[in-house]
Amino acid sequence: MKKFNILTLGCQMNERDSETLAGMLTEMGYEQIDDRNQADIAIINTCSVRDHADRRFFGMLGQLKKIKEKNPGFIVCVCGCMMQQQHIIDQIKEKYPWVDIIFGTHNIHRFPRLLGNVISEKEKQIEIWEDGGEIVEGLPSKRLYKHKAFVNIMFGCNNFCTYCIVPYTRGRERSRRPEDILAEIKRLVDDGVKEITLLGQNVNSYKGEGGVDFADLLRMINEVDGIERIRFMTSHPKDLSDRLIDVYRDCDKVCSFFHLPVQSGNDNILKRMNRRYTADDYMELVRKLREARPDISLTTDIIVGFPGETEEEFEDTLKLVEAVNFDSAFTFMYSKRKGTPAAEYDDQIPEEIKHDRFDRLVETVNRCAADRNARFVGQITPVLVEGVSKSDEGCVTGRNPQNKIVNFPGDASLTGTIVNVKISEAGTFSLVGKMV
Ligand code: 5AD
Ligand code: SF4
Repeated sequence: MKKFNILTLGCQMNERDSETLAGMLTEMGYEQIDDRNQADIAIINTCSVRDHADRRFFGMLGQLKKIKEKNPGFIVCVCGCMMQQQHIIDQIKEKYPWVDIIFGTHNIHRFPRLLGNVISEKEKQIEIWEDGGEIVEGLPSKRLYKHKAFVNIMFGCNNFCTYCIVPYTRGRERSRRPEDILAEIKRLVDDGVKEITLLGQNVNSYKGEGGVDFADLLRMINEVDGIERIRFMTSHPKDLSDRLIDVYRDCDKVCSFFHLPVQSGNDNILKRMNRRYTADDYMELVRKLREARPDISLTTDIIVGFPGETEEEFEDTLKLVEAVNFDSAFTFMYSKRKGTPAAEYDDQIPEEIKHDRFDRLVETVNRCAADRNARFVGQITPVLVEGVSKSDEGCVTGRNPQNKIVNFPGDASLTGTIVNVKISEAGTFSLVGKMV
């Protein structure tokens, strides 16, 4: 049996796309393996959101070259967001001409055809589609997890935040039809899935056929029998309506967990980022969400060192983090992305200042996270068990509705079940307890 290996960089959208690639290859009779040295086909699904991911990609290509030198029949495929940028394609053609297949984010369904062409014609295949195609339904998928699944509800982004490459690599917003989404979720339930995460760059601006918006869609999904937990990401504060918050409050299967990227706590920076809300608007949303769901866990994304950010403006971000008291946050140093407006701003921040701000932000975020986790001590919380813990022998690990990692004594037979756990200890990143 021929074997393949996929390396996925970046976000959950990419993870979901890799599941589709794995599904197509599995249908073609290939077997997925972890060791790329033993593979016949290697795929790198790339991310271009920050330069760290770019660098990892080029480092990995170097490794694949060594495998190809030993095994000339080894097929190397690269895809994902980086491939939607012409300067990257040019660089690959020039410096890595031995790459066999290059495709982008809009034509994943074409992969079996491109692979067939490489095998039969022994000729490299480069196929990048511009934005604007139809959503292709019905592709196979080989899921990463048994009991939880990602479901795309929309693709692309229309927001053009000035730092962000996504609108250029993923194109304009397109929403899937509600009936296609519901049919996929029903199939997942039949297959034993208990938790779904609805994915989109900006789920709050979902616009399905028949005028169905995200609030309507959540209600419809909440009615599906057999689904126990519903999550979604990512939400944009400017599109989070009162109506959606009402629906969120009322849908019992939707978890008390909300990821709401704030990016900065300073109005001038938010304006220059083209975020279209103020720090006060954000605080008001936090108030409404906590009113709707007092047990909610709130997480966010934050960028430090955006061009022109002063010390005082950065301190506004620290103040906002303290004021919200986030459950956790993904923190990033601003990274220049070719083709975005902010990359051209002439007031770029020196790296050492970015590092200093980043460290101070992480310290503040961790303090909030530890404080928020402490509220669970003494409480009983339902945990969907993901499997045995890799670090603690005799323990299993899972997540509660607030998306907290919970570790407790148990064995593999608990995997995929939801059990009640009484929390005895809380750290910065996880909780510890005992099944009750
Ligand atoms: N530099 C740093 N962080 C970025 N993000 C997006 N673009 C950049 C960039 N150029 C962050 C944002 C976004 C998250 C997915 O990545 O915080 O919400
Ligand atoms: Fe990027 Fe902004 Fe769109 Fe998010 S909303 S994908 S940060 S442009």
